[in-house]
Amino acid sequence: MYNYLSIRILHKCSINSEDNRMRYITIALAKGRLATQTMELLEKSGITCEELHDKETRKLIFTNQELGLKFFLSKTSDVPTYVEYGAADLGVVGYDTIREEGRKVLEVLDLGLGKCDMCVAGPAIAKEALETGRIRRVATKYPAIAKDYFFEQKHQTVEIIKLNGSVELAPIVGLSEVIVDIVETGSTLRANGLEVLEKICPLSARVIVNEASMKLERERILELISALRNSLE
Ligand code: PRP
Repeated sequence: MYNYLSIRILHKCSINSEDNRMRYITIALAKGRLATQTMELLEKSGITCEELHDKETRKLIFTNQELGLKFFLSKTSDVPTYVEYGAADLGVVGYDTIREEGRKVLEVLDLGLGKCDMCVAGPAIAKEALETGRIRRVATKYPAIAKDYFFEQKHQTVEIIKLNGSVELAPIVGLSEVIVDIVETGSTLRANGLEVLEKICPLSARVIVNEASMKLERERILELISALRNSLE
């Protein structure tokens, strides 16, 4: 059953196809839980994609021909890249990725999903060094965010060491005094004798849009954003 919003999207697609100018709106989703949650929100508004429910499929791109929509799943950090270059008109991805990638995209809606914080964390004894600007090394999966925080906001010179996972190890084995990382429940920090020392910013999933797409397909994109916003309420 399609609601009003999806009927309007469908209507526009059929007009376009009569003119032989049908253009799909393409949506990039970050693989995993966020993609599932985003589809659940869209489905509440009658915007579905049956193909995406096939867990066995090896396909990378999924189509709802009736609504003129395409969806693809990509690695989280690639979502802003696809959107900046217009390979996707819209994307849904965490604010951590948006800030880290620094791509030129429009951020249009906070979905409030996956809420957590970007923090500086470490052992309690590192707190004083952090406050007095005596930290030498910071390990992180998010070097751009860490650089911005230490260099631009705190005006401190530190060495940023890029890691690819299990960042909590760094202060334990002496690679760095502190880390910059995502903290959700705090259980990983607690289990490793670490704690939040400073909060950098809150994080949640956001909808991003390609700048040119927002001009060319403004009406259909705004309808999709409204569908997501209405499903949140
Ligand atoms: C993330 C993050 C922390 C952990 C925080 O890691 O980097 O390690 O989750 O969650 P918590 O506060 O609920 O314990 P992820 O699970 O992505 O694994 P990774 O460290 O190997 O990248």
